[in-house]
This record gives sequence, structure tokens and C-alpha cells, in this order.
Amino acid sequence: VKVSIYGAGQAGGGVAALLARRPGVEVLGPFGRDDRERALTGGADVVVIATTSFLREIAPDVRDAIEAGANVITSAEEAAYPWATSPKLADELDALARARGVTVLGAGLNPGFAFDALVLTATGATAEIASLRVERVVDLSGFGPAVLRRIGVGHAPNAFAAGVSSGEITGHIGFPQSMWLVAASVGVQIEQIDREITPILAEREHVAQHVTVPAGATAGFEQRYVGVVDGRPWFTALFLGHVDPVSIGEPTRDEIHVDGRTPIDLAIVPGLNAQTGSAAVLANSVRRVLDAPPGWLTVADLPPATPAWGTSR
Ligand SMILES: NC(=O)c1ccc[n+]([C@@H]2O[C@H](COP(=O)([O-])OP(=O)(O)OC[C@H]3O[C@@H](n4cnc5c(N)ncnc54)[C@H](OP(=O)(O)O)[C@@H]3O)[C@@H](O)[C@H]2O)c1
Repeated sequence: VKVSIYGAGQAGGGVAALLARRPGVEVLGPFGRDDRERALTGGADVVVIATTSFLREIAPDVRDAIEAGANVITSAEEAAYPWATSPKLADELDALARARGVTVLGAGLNPGFAFDALVLTATGATAEIASLRVERVVDLSGFGPAVLRRIGVGHAPNAFAAGVSSGEITGHIGFPQSMWLVAASVGVQIEQIDREITPILAEREHVAQHVTVPAGATAGFEQRYVGVVDGRPWFTALFLGHVDPVSIGEPTRDEIHVDGRTPIDLAIVPGLNAQTGSAAVLANSVRRVLDAPPGWLTVADLPPATPAWGTSR
């Protein structure tokens, strides 16, 4: 299987390294911007696009890869449930993928696993879902410089506030996508999603791999997204990201709480690793995408991602 990687950053590099160790996989790339054509239309069975978070930015790349007959897996957060961003563009690319007989999937750890695929798996053991609460504490110290800037680390408090207002600082992207994906899978209609982001200021200097945060600047942030159904909170997503979460008494963790007839409380301690976890979900999606029906699918449409494949019978 030929897998081409477009995007030579952390995610692309991580996926390439994992797949290079897999028998039967030939890795092409990772390719940077200058090798776009080779990456997308160079004859791969699967193209992994790990460049940006935004649907409108990856759409031309997805289109060209589909036109070239390749399946697509992308880490772009908005691609996990593209109908949340642009139903028109999502439907158009879905139709193109069906016509060409290839599959497109948005995947990763978040979105793609921690706030959606794993949540759906947990709901399998309860007869009904009254509400969901998912909490994640992430160590941001290994994130790349561009991603750190965009999500809101290393800014003076007023610059953080201004960046949030202008949309240049986004916090972590992908919670609406996870919520829509879970809701659609269990037949629930989300009415609105309330959101807030609060900076966490450094009390001392923090030196991380790609950023030094002076005291008083943003060392992290807390995000709270609430998906409302029938006027009540149905899906609450809490995310705390920090370059040194232990220093503020918040060791990394993932928690899923399903409130219903049989409540389910799932905790993963320490929390899932953002870099290695995302690279694994992306690499582990190659086989399930090759085996999937054509069209733009979500992780809820597919069997779990696994590092190796057998047969179920
Ligand atoms: N769903 C998930 O769980 C998940 C997991 C990991 C990553 N992601 C997302 O995936 C993206 C890549 O992550 P990363 O950690 O690899 O970031 P990164 O280390 O910053 O690398 C991104 C790479 O893509 C290139 N790039 C950026 N925008 C581009 C564009 N519009 N066209 C072509 N190339 C472009 C960059 O090149 P230049 O240096 O030339 O700009 C860089 O080489 C990010 O948006 C990240 O948020 C999602």
C-alpha cells in the first residue's frame, strides 16, 4: 500500500515514522508545500493531509487527491465532521469521492478519538444517554510553534483577548465537530453550542520544547463547550491545555462520563499523548479507510482504528 504524506510538520512526520515500520506499506514523503503535486497526485493509494486545521484550506488538496484516485485521511480538525463548517463543501467533496470510488476521513486524537470515537464506544454499555461530560487535560509542551501560537500559548493577556476576539487565537479546535459527530450517531439534534475560553497565566517562566513562556504570559487555557439539547446541557466538553500542567496541580488525564440509566465513568491516567496518540490514530486509519465504502465518512462510520489487522471471522 502506498501512503503519501502531505505536511512535513509534527503530525505528518509522526505518521510517516509509524507507517515506515509497517510491512507492506510504502511511505512517500512527508512532502512540504513545494512538493504539493507529488504528494497529492503521485499515485498513492492513500494521501494523509496533515497541514492545517481548516476545511476551506484543505479542500483544494482533498479535491486534487480524490481526482487522482487516492483515498484521503486528514488531521484537519474541521474535517472530522465537515458538515459543521460547510455542508455545501462537505456534500460536494463527498459526492466527488463517491463518484471516484474513494474514501475521505478526518481523524486524529481530538477530534477523532478522545471526544467522539471513544465516547461512542463507552455509550455502548448503557441503555440510554441523559448527558455526556468529557474532560481532557493535555500537556502542550511538545506542540509545534505554529500550533502553540494559534491555540493561545505564549501571549500577553491583552494580546490573548484580542486574538480570541479576532479569531486568530482559537484554543483547541474540534469540539463542535466531536459533538455533532456523537449527536448524529445517536440520533440527537444539538440546538446550540455555548463556548468559552479562559487564559491560564504563567506564575513563573516555563521553557518548553518550542516556546518559552515568560511569567505573566499565557502558559495555557481552559475551554468549555456545551452542546445544548432540549434547552439543557447534553454534551459538556472541558479541555485544559498547559505547557506544564503538573505545575498547576493538573496532571494529564482523559475522563468520559455518560449519565444515563447505567452511568459510566471512564478515566485514562495519565491522559492520552497528543502527539503519539494522534499519529497512531492517523496511521491506524489507513487499513480501515482502504476497506471502507466510498464517500466522506467520519470515525463513527468505521470500525475502531487498530495498529494491526486480522479478520473478524
Ligand atoms: N485531529 C487531531 O487530533 C490532530 C492531531 C494533530 C494535528 N492536528 C492538526 O493538524 C495540523 C498539522 O499539525 P502539526 O502538529 O503537524 O502542525 P505543524 O507541526 O505546524 O506542521 C504543519 C505543516 O504543514 C504545513 N502547512 C501549514 N499550512 C499549510 C497549508 N495551508 N498548505 C500546505 N502546507 C501547510 C507547514 O508548513 P510551513 O512550515 O511551511 O507553514 C508545516 O510543515 C494542525 O492544524 C493541527 O492542529 C490535528
